Amino acid sequence: MNHILHVVGARPNFMKAAPVLAALERQQGFRQTLVHTGQHYDANMSEIFFQQLGIPEPDFNLEVGSGSHAQQTAQILSRLEPVVLEQKPDLVLVYGDVNSTVAAALVCTKIGIPVGHVEAGLRSFDRTMPEEINRLLTDQVADLLFTPSIDGNQNLEREGIDKNKVYLVGNVMIDTLVRLLPKAGDETLRELIEGDGQAQSQPSFSVGGRLPFELVSGPYALVTLHRPSNVDDPEMLREIITTLNEISAMLPVILPIHPRTRQRLSGLRLDLDFDGARLKLIDPVGYLQFLALQRRARLVITDSGGIQEETTFLGIPCLTVRENTERPVTVTLGTNVLVGQDMMRLREEVERILAGAGKKGSIPPLWDGRASERIAEIIKEWLGPRND
Ligand code: UD1
Ligand code: UDP
Repeated sequence: MNHILHVVGARPNFMKAAPVLAALERQQGFRQTLVHTGQHYDANMSEIFFQQLGIPEPDFNLEVGSGSHAQQTAQILSRLEPVVLEQKPDLVLVYGDVNSTVAAALVCTKIGIPVGHVEAGLRSFDRTMPEEINRLLTDQVADLLFTPSIDGNQNLEREGIDKNKVYLVGNVMIDTLVRLLPKAGDETLRELIEGDGQAQSQPSFSVGGRLPFELVSGPYALVTLHRPSNVDDPEMLREIITTLNEISAMLPVILPIHPRTRQRLSGLRLDLDFDGARLKLIDPVGYLQFLALQRRARLVITDSGGIQEETTFLGIPCLTVRENTERPVTVTLGTNVLVGQDMMRLREEVERILAGAGKKGSIPPLWDGRASERIAEIIKEWLGPRND
């Protein structure tokens, strides 16, 4: 049996690995091992996704935790190597663009184990983003590169990567979305709502706790923020939160807050006018809850990579608080608008959407829920039969 070892570590890896694990399982003839680096470790950044997405328990947890880029990457390098040496997989699959992705790719390529990169070829052309460095380096050493959209193939070709290693398969994150959309109904929001559905109408700016029923029962904006360029600079973060507070006078704003952002906010003194403000900060939520919140949202404001894609698939207007995106099809075909770090523009775009002039979009080719099946087929062929 061919042996595939998967390495995951951070929240967006889980949605990408889940369908690939399942597709390889369905193919039969594969032994699979799952390694969690422990880059993300809070229950609501990790464990909840294993439960909701039906991912098997990891066979190994490297428990690397948080640290500087060098510390975190180094811990993954030194803790993963003995596992891979002992397991001797035929192929290691890495996902996306987080530190766990590049570290695992480097470990394996140095000891001669083939690496497959799921979500290869995406480029923001902004090397100040840690993820761009992770993407460039991972693609340089990968033996099999699975791209979600044609721009990925074009980027890889420009970088001189052998075309024969690159496969356009579509978007695995959308596989998970398609599978779980029927389970992400309003009932999944019940646990987030306070007072068993009783209306609680106090305007609020508070962190944690539950959502007032009133907030999710009408139009609202759903927001996520965690890019260092937005949240690690106190002035930028202050400006963004102040703007969201102003926007909340137009429609309620729900912000499930990433642990990085929570930490940065705790060091910030905010001087906000709460009159009429309906900005609600809650803990990060599970995948089903976030999907249910997205599909009901009037608009989404984000700096996440995956959420630009999910809103495009769902047809929900998305305002991305970044100067660039490694996912250009969400802008050219989808509902995504890059507003940059210009908060005036953000307010204007919100007004435009509320006036009914939000961007309409279409679903990019091959974002059809079957990308992981295509990956499993290609891997089967690539590895060939193994007689043991
Ligand atoms: C990481 C990825 C980013 C991805 C994001 C998804 C890198 C370089 N960054 O960013 O590409 O978009 O995950 O969410 O790999 N923390 C906790 N609990 C946790 C995890 C983190 O409290 O379970 C806090 C720690 O203070 C930590 C900080 O969040 O220092 C940042 O975590 P880290 O994994 O370094 O980067 P993210 O910002 O999560
Ligand atoms: N997500 C979630 N709960 C939240 C926020 C996001 O389940 O509170 C999901 C979201 O639906 C998407 C993924 O997390 O599937 C995106 O991950 P994230 O924004 O952390 O990382 P990025 O895509 O920017 O690398």
